[in-house]
Amino acid sequence: MLNIVILAAGLGKRMQSNLPKVLHTIAGRSMLSHVLDGARDLDADSIVVVVGHGAEEVQSAYAADTDLQFALQRPQLGTGHAVQQAVGLLKEDGEDDVTIVLYGDVPLVQVTTLQALLAARGEGLAVLTEILQDPAGYGRIVRNDKGEVCAIVEHKDANETQRSITEVNTGIIAAPTAPLKRWLSQLTNNNAQGEYYLTDVIGMAVADGLPVAVAHPQAAFETLGVNSRMQQAQLERMWQSELARRQLESGVTLADPARFDVRGQLVCGRDVFIDVGCVFVGNVELADGVHVGPHCVLRNVVIGPGTQIEAYSHLDQAQVGAHAHIGPYARLRPGAQLADHTHVGNFVEIKNTQLGEGSKANHLAYLGDADIGARVNIGAGTITCNYDGVNKFRTVIEDDAFIGSDTQLVAPVRVGRGATIGAGTTLTRDAPAEQLTVSRARQTAIAGWVRPVKKPR
Ligand code: UD1
Ligand code: MG
Repeated sequence: MLNIVILAAGLGKRMQSNLPKVLHTIAGRSMLSHVLDGARDLDADSIVVVVGHGAEEVQSAYAADTDLQFALQRPQLGTGHAVQQAVGLLKEDGEDDVTIVLYGDVPLVQVTTLQALLAARGEGLAVLTEILQDPAGYGRIVRNDKGEVCAIVEHKDANETQRSITEVNTGIIAAPTAPLKRWLSQLTNNNAQGEYYLTDVIGMAVADGLPVAVAHPQAAFETLGVNSRMQQAQLERMWQSELARRQLESGVTLADPARFDVRGQLVCGRDVFIDVGCVFVGNVELADGVHVGPHCVLRNVVIGPGTQIEAYSHLDQAQVGAHAHIGPYARLRPGAQLADHTHVGNFVEIKNTQLGEGSKANHLAYLGDADIGARVNIGAGTITCNYDGVNKFRTVIEDDAFIGSDTQLVAPVRVGRGATIGAGTTLTRDAPAEQLTVSRARQTAIAGWVRPVKKPR
């Protein structure tokens, strides 16, 4: 049985925040969610989150996650004390029972690293360690003259010689569950900080004759913890540059990998180009050959092959077909469904609307709650008046219709196939197919009219 205990009871004072620390985000996901991703990728039999400060808020944020269990640690008397609170929830079936301890504020440890830690463990205990130029503050890995790990000594308890050790404890360990429970029950707080140290179990394992192995993270960001907004911002940049690296490696062109932000899942086809300053939120799919211009925001959208999205466009919960042309300055809102070869230009807002194949709305329009057929031309300044202040109504525009500029379509209303609507029309009744419909005061010219002149003072 594989148990994962995530320590998340700490206060996070330096964040200067009302939000519990582990709910602060990296790449749009809370730190705790990142840690949980790793735990779930390992297919753990149980996941226990130890909460303390802000416990109610953390628990309610994960109320829907039925695979989690919470253990309350109040007061917080150290990392060993924290794991003690989870002991009753650890699962055992006698076959290779193991417990991994992770930190809720060390969000980016990768599943491959945890697998390496489990592999290193064998029958015994394994510690994820790394060598640091400046090890100050960390627990030091003390080895005997055969080079075997024999203890972890906390910085505050370490002597001069021990402080010169550069191999440090990242805090992440994997231990056999039954002995771990026994060692935890034997912890004392007889140390410089008066805390129950989880790290004391290493010395106990050695005393019991169990082997203690180490494993190392593959990347530096994996073991970085967040204690302040500055560290959060730095880790965010490191993680974004890792995400950029992965996109570049899979064949995406990024105009500048340092100006690229993904807050969710971005899946790209071949030969996708992404210009600077774009933000991708939620689940975004860009098919082969999609081109995204500078400073676009794409949130939960699917874009078909060969489509061009020009600068400063904002797309939210929209679907766009192949070889479409969007923007610059286009806004697609939830429920916008654009077929292949559609064109949507500057200052066009589309919501809950289907735009059929080859249809165009190139300038300044609002299309909401509409079903628009194929090859329709929407003139500049067209507005679907979909809302009477209480209810919303649909507008239907059939194939090959031409909507003249500055038309208001007062829904519910239908424009027939091939109909032409004259510029400036306020359409309040259905427009028949293949005819010109226009509602406009007749133009008059007044002969002999004289323009007013300024009165003398
Ligand atoms: C700990 C390790 C140290 C290691 C370092 C790595 C111990 C005794 N020391 O030190 O060897 O080098 O991490 O960063 O384990 N927490 C609780 N309840 C508590 C105390 C802590 O949930 O009572 C949580 C914190 O929220 C945090 C994590 O445990 O997520 C680590 O606590 P922290 O105080 O940062 O540990 P360090 O003293 O830095
Ligand atoms: Mg501490």
